[in-house]
Amino acid sequence: MSETIDSLLHEKRHFAPPPNFVAQANVSDPSIYEAAEPDYEGFWANWAAKLDWFEPWSQVLDWQPPYAKWFLGGKINACHNCVDRHVSAGLGGKTAILFEGEPGDVRAITYAELQAQVSKTANALKALGVKKGDIVCIYMPMVAELAIAMLACARIGAAHSVVFGGFSAEALRERINDGGAVAVITADGGWRRGKIVELKKTVDEAIQDCPSVKKVLILKRTNQPQDYSWVEGRDCWWSDIVDNQSEDCPCEPMDSEDLLFTLYTSGSTGKPKGIIHTTGGYLTGTFATFQWVFDIKPNDIYWCTADCGWITGHSYVVYGPLANGATVLMYEGAPDTPDKDRFWRIVENHKVTILYTAPTAIRAFMKWGDEYPAQCDLSSLRLLGSVGEPINPEAWVWYWQHIGGGHCPVVDTWWQTETGSILITPLPGITVCKPGSASRPFPGVRAEVYSEDGRALEGAHGGYLVLTRPWPAMLRGIFNDPDRYVQQYWSRFPGVYFTGDGVKRDENGDLWLLGRVDDVMNVAGHRISTMEVESALVDHPAVAEAAVIGKAHDVKGQAISAFVLLRAGHEHDNIVSELKEHVAKVIGAIARPDDVFICGDLPKTRSGKIMRRLLRDVAEGRALGDTTTLADPGVVSSLRNQYEHLEA
Ligand code: PRX
Repeated sequence: MSETIDSLLHEKRHFAPPPNFVAQANVSDPSIYEAAEPDYEGFWANWAAKLDWFEPWSQVLDWQPPYAKWFLGGKINACHNCVDRHVSAGLGGKTAILFEGEPGDVRAITYAELQAQVSKTANALKALGVKKGDIVCIYMPMVAELAIAMLACARIGAAHSVVFGGFSAEALRERINDGGAVAVITADGGWRRGKIVELKKTVDEAIQDCPSVKKVLILKRTNQPQDYSWVEGRDCWWSDIVDNQSEDCPCEPMDSEDLLFTLYTSGSTGKPKGIIHTTGGYLTGTFATFQWVFDIKPNDIYWCTADCGWITGHSYVVYGPLANGATVLMYEGAPDTPDKDRFWRIVENHKVTILYTAPTAIRAFMKWGDEYPAQCDLSSLRLLGSVGEPINPEAWVWYWQHIGGGHCPVVDTWWQTETGSILITPLPGITVCKPGSASRPFPGVRAEVYSEDGRALEGAHGGYLVLTRPWPAMLRGIFNDPDRYVQQYWSRFPGVYFTGDGVKRDENGDLWLLGRVDDVMNVAGHRISTMEVESALVDHPAVAEAAVIGKAHDVKGQAISAFVLLRAGHEHDNIVSELKEHVAKVIGAIARPDDVFICGDLPKTRSGKIMRRLLRDVAEGRALGDTTTLADPGVVSSLRNQYEHLEA
């Protein structure tokens, strides 16, 4: 058992919501949970009714497991609800996006300005030939124009497919071709640790082999000389085409079930899955959860540190907050540039009130030292959130004390790319928080703990986390792969959604997430499949066979550890660094292995399946688990000897 899980299971501390927080909270009455139970469809319909619809729905839910449709017949536009609705309500002068670039440039964009910018961008997309129903790939740094581009797509009914700017040309190409994107929106580059991330250059490399892409729209972000290419007729500068467009661009009425976006995530095979999210249900789910989980108030300055390349950025930088008319802070760069207090300087300078970040970042801050937050004024903060991986109790308590000053509730929110919105979470004015527990399902949501053989376990028990009721922001499928949707999520336990996570329910009914139970790693909050890294490795001419595991890591949660068998004659001094670089080139720097261990053989069952569980035991220095099914038990003990020898 890893240290994190061990400490989770022995955690006994409790943190009640501070009375002055409760007194002003959006929700403080626990009866909301019971109230949502008898009619969960009605519960969600009440939320949906708070949004603007061009035409009302005729049916709340059509549930033919595993296929759900929400708000059938309703016509809605996500961009209208995130922008125009607030301008019409008199909030045009309120800051929508507060942007800080890594070099220190700051920009405040009001809702009225956002409306103008988004409309111009939407008209530019139309001028480039983008139509309703098309897919547009967005590959940008974390700048305001990234959110503007997403909203512009939504405005004209084109679906976006945002690809994280850290992904390689190959990964980008795979995602563009799977979706058949007609255009790519990018930038000349973005700033990261004082250096330029060369996005346009990567796009050039990727789309050499992307026949569907007709246009590339490029924002001049860094304005530094670089050696990217330029294809006349295909490439155009943002400033040339967006700036002189009309500010008048009506929002396209979309069917509630029309595609809003696809977003690729790693599953248990080598090929990433394009998760499908539709319009009405997704917006309802993110709108509702944002309002209750983050207790949003008109004067809050809310900052979610996630990049829009991930689901957290979609749901809790763009759609949830803007649907609520909130002020959202976006920061482009790294947390340690120019120094390790950058986040705390941002909180101090912009008087951030709500901060939402990941455990891996919190653990890095702990390691860097208490003095960095201590030298900044963090008194504006009133609520803290965590997302992306299990938070170990020590990190939770450090966050509560050193960032929250002991007066901010901490909401540990569990969800996934597939769930679209937060599903298991404390509500900050109600929940007595236990460090390391995401507490309980959001009202209207039903999560259960299942045994190996698919029985619902009552009371205090460990098992598999499943969701037994549909929810509005749930994925509608996997792009281009309808069978995989059924097989991946709805077949392990027929008729219920299998999350892929292990969980323990305690005697009070609180849930403690224990991490993935499949071949998906969680590396610094990023989801990476072992198979994706393995196929990148075996793609290298020197590699005969590779097995990859996530090894416990004190900051990243898990680090990628690869066990590699080389082809004869390919051993040389630099092979380890060459293989690490190769993976970074094929997938992106986030997938660069921490260790590559060259070995003589891999532990396999008699049927030839690699036993990764035993490799984890070796890498984490634990006693070996059951080895009786191995074809040759000697392999793993000699592997352990070699490994220990190498580590020493
Ligand atoms: O294992 C769970 C973990 O992250 C996975 C989902 O990853 P992704 O789709 O990239 O979305 C991350 C952001 C929502 C889950 O299956 N996870 C996410 N949040 C938590 C978590 N594990 C424990 N506690 C959390 N709060």
